[in-house]
Amino acid sequence: MALRNIVKDGDPILRKVCRPVEKFDERLASLLEDMAETMHAADGVGIAGPQVGMMRRLCVVDCYDDEGVIELVNPEIIAASGEQTGSEGCLSFPGKWGTVTRPMNVTVRAQDRNGNWFEISGEGLKARAFCHEIDHLNGVCFVDLAENVVDEEQEGTEE
Ligand code: NI
Repeated sequence: MALRNIVKDGDPILRKVCRPVEKFDERLASLLEDMAETMHAADGVGIAGPQVGMMRRLCVVDCYDDEGVIELVNPEIIAASGEQTGSEGCLSFPGKWGTVTRPMNVTVRAQDRNGNWFEISGEGLKARAFCHEIDHLNGVCFVDLAENVVDEEQEGTEE
């Protein structure tokens, strides 16, 4: 396993639509493992392919609960309900936070690292993470949806 560089705001790669994953091989497995390691090292709850420079439809999510790391290959949201409004950030936008409204519950259909299809549901933070990461696969970043984006790095010295 190895840490990957995280692509940052301003890189056009974050704005492209990713292509489906077609090969379920050792390279995919190590990419998913590297993504999880990179996410953990950065204290994130999710990371998507383009954030490590891979223009493929895959992401990992970890809400630090019993479910552990969730690998999603070619994910799609197949059901969504409810609503939540809360603060959101992104490993590609360090120091930035904004208020984003998302569904409270989502169900995702995806493939695992071996190509087997499965469905997974998430509530609250997990639903938010699924939506945020799947948006990345379509070139959508949270700042596009957020209200009141705050940039801690440019906040100055207000008390
Ligand atoms: Ni993000």
